[in-house]
Amino acid sequence: MSATNYQTTKAEPDASSMIETFRAIGYSIETAIADIIDNSISAEAKNIWLSYNWKGENTRIQIRDDGSGMNHEELIQAMRPGSKHPTEARTLKDLGRFGLGLKTASFSQTRKFSVLSKKAGFNTVFWAWDLDHVNTVQAWELIRYTPSEDAVSEIEEQTSGTTVIWYCLDRSLRDTKEEDADALGKFMEIMEGVKRHLEMVFHRFLEQGKIKIWFQERELKAWDPFLRGAEGIQIGAEEYLGEGNIIVKGYVLPHKSKLTEQEFKHASGPKGWNEQQGFYIYRNERLLVAGNWLGLFRKEEHYKLARILIDLPNTLDDKWQIDIKKSVARPPLKTRDQLKAYAQVIRNNAVNVYRHRGKEIQRKYPSFKFTPVWLEKQRHGKRFYAINRDHPIVQEILEEPSKQNLNDLLKFIEETVPIPLITIKESEEPESHGFPFENLDHEILINRLKEMFDLLVSQGKNQEEAKSILLSIEPFDKYPQYFELFTK
Ligand SMILES: Nc1ncnc2c1ncn2[C@@H]1O[C@H](COP(=O)(O)OP(=O)(O)OP(=O)(O)O)[C@@H](O)[C@H]1O
Ligand SMILES: [Mg+2]
Repeated sequence: MSATNYQTTKAEPDASSMIETFRAIGYSIETAIADIIDNSISAEAKNIWLSYNWKGENTRIQIRDDGSGMNHEELIQAMRPGSKHPTEARTLKDLGRFGLGLKTASFSQTRKFSVLSKKAGFNTVFWAWDLDHVNTVQAWELIRYTPSEDAVSEIEEQTSGTTVIWYCLDRSLRDTKEEDADALGKFMEIMEGVKRHLEMVFHRFLEQGKIKIWFQERELKAWDPFLRGAEGIQIGAEEYLGEGNIIVKGYVLPHKSKLTEQEFKHASGPKGWNEQQGFYIYRNERLLVAGNWLGLFRKEEHYKLARILIDLPNTLDDKWQIDIKKSVARPPLKTRDQLKAYAQVIRNNAVNVYRHRGKEIQRKYPSFKFTPVWLEKQRHGKRFYAINRDHPIVQEILEEPSKQNLNDLLKFIEETVPIPLITIKESEEPESHGFPFENLDHEILINRLKEMFDLLVSQGKNQEEAKSILLSIEPFDKYPQYFELFTK
């Protein structure tokens, strides 16, 4: 049957409702701005200028580049949703995929935006999407508008380049007044977040000097999640997965004691130490996922020093299910298993660095032996914690018992409970901790119990009362069977 046998009718999307849907894709302002900068990098820009001028709800955000720019036809094509087919082959430097980012990222933050562009040898051109206009005319129609003549002259002075201007930021600034100091404070905080996000997402471009990003005229500095060059980093072996086109490389960052307070804070990154552990997935060197275990593990304090780089080419977009926002990547099943195995090794190393502060100190001052208050012990395959009888404070009380000494010792014990060690073991091997007095000779337990029982009875308690008092005392509560030895 040929297609001509079918009756057909057009069912075109409704422009204004479609654009409203674009607005709900879920960009944050930082991911939206990063998506606009992706386009500048794909257009081989060397400089990108991000600027904003606070005017309450009339604030504008402007992103200009000195990339190849577009002529009139190219700009109109660029403004179309779906300007390129997602399956179209892209060059290895191209950060785009769907032909949507410019529109979806912009509409996620603003009701109106203009794009001004100049291609070498062509006139400067500009077109704008205005959601209010689309609503009025109910059509996919651009208007020829720029909110700033200065922006036109700026681009005109360049050989080539593009400026994107967002000028109705209803998502973050609706109904805010210019003189509202609180709103200004919040906006500055948001922009500080944007800055940190860009320093992270584009750090490899910034480090290699491939691009410069000027943020209100200040040059952004790369934030390297792997602290390359710092002392005390452990670097795992580089592995090639897939068809050899995926590179994986793990880093264990230095223990806190190896970094100055400022270095430690800086290394924590935009989301903080705990959040920033995990895989860092780069696509064409642009960071897509910054610290995520991809559902393979949970984020836990003691793994926070593990960060693992994954390098992907844009030819794997489909297999890794890269999304429009360039913020999600899902490895194919086989690769997941390989990543899990690789990550386990790095994570183990990370735990060791996190825990072995004592060893570090020992290495630093090799003539002194590290003396902990608590020791980890194994008994019949179960884990227990013991007070170190060789610790000087413990020795002192054993040799010279006094009330003061005893109190001091209790304080030392309380203050040094090995919480990280216990929690790590508990989450790694949940069943491994022993039960009080498990597999020990119970003579000491029974003797103590009997002594206390007799005392209570001699003080006039009846057997049942004495028993219930003792059953509320740890660890007698765990051994009610022993009462039978001396009760009738
Ligand atoms: N700053 C720019 N300089 C030159 N051309 C640009 C610029 N921004 C966008 N374009 C052109 O507009 C097209 C559409 O951009 P858009 O971001 O919507 O989609 P994309 O980058 O192709 O794919 P994706 O949806 O994955 O971002 C680009 O493919 C590019 O040809
Ligand atoms: Mg794009």
